[in-house]
Amino acid sequence: MNIRQLNVQAKTAISLFLLFIITATISSVILLGLELSGSKEGLNIPTISQIKDKYTTPTIVAAMKGSMYEYVTSDEDIETVRAWIDEGAKKEGTLYEDSMEIIKLDCANCHSKTSKMSKAIPSMPFEKYEQVIEHTKAGYSWSKMSKQAHIHMFGIAMFLIVVTLLFAYTTYKESIRTGLIVASFGGAFLDIFSWWFSKYVTELVYLIFSMGGLMVASILAMSFLILADIWKK
Ligand code: HEC
Repeated sequence: MNIRQLNVQAKTAISLFLLFIITATISSVILLGLELSGSKEGLNIPTISQIKDKYTTPTIVAAMKGSMYEYVTSDEDIETVRAWIDEGAKKEGTLYEDSMEIIKLDCANCHSKTSKMSKAIPSMPFEKYEQVIEHTKAGYSWSKMSKQAHIHMFGIAMFLIVVTLLFAYTTYKESIRTGLIVASFGGAFLDIFSWWFSKYVTELVYLIFSMGGLMVASILAMSFLILADIWKK
């Protein structure tokens, strides 16, 4: 049995489903690019160094280089905060005083429980030392990581089983079908696995980059190949 024997209605449903999958996949790359680059529009393919910042740099420094960059007065301020954290984020010394001053001026007007700014975030206040140091650890915390991992894995597995089963019943060579099916699940697994461990082993950011790319490429390839196969005369 193959997918080409389905009736026109089934083929139409599959095609529309794949259109959603293709759009969603491209949207996820756009979102990641915007988050990592701090830009407001366009498709910004993430670079290795941006991925490294996201997964191995202290959260607050990564935000200053990425999504919160527009609020940073000068690049030197990022280095000051980074140096303070590298030296242990202690509650003493000039680096501490300078960092708290930078955060107070650039960030605390929004990052405050009592902020009146329209884009405020009262849930993540930076008014006191104790609140700031919660965000000075490298990379994602275990709670953020497990939240991200389970949401992504449940979601990806659900649509990937549909796409890969459809692809399994196309008329392409067996090696192509097996290869892309394994690449999509394998890429997704290794990508998420390296999110977890890159804060301990920095080299894993290369795996995040390549496996994320492999997952996206194989999902797009399978979707387009299925479309080509079912509508081929
Ligand atoms: C105009 C208001 C505003 C200013 C100023 C601001 N933030 Fe934010 N910040 C937000 C909002 C809203 C969010 C949550 C949504 C988001 O990520 O865009 C956020 C999220 C964050 C996060 C969570 C992770 C992330 O990257 O999204 C961090 C860390 C952060 N900000 C740090 C900072 C630092 C450091 C500064 C100062 C250089 C700063 N913010 C200045 C509004 C602001």
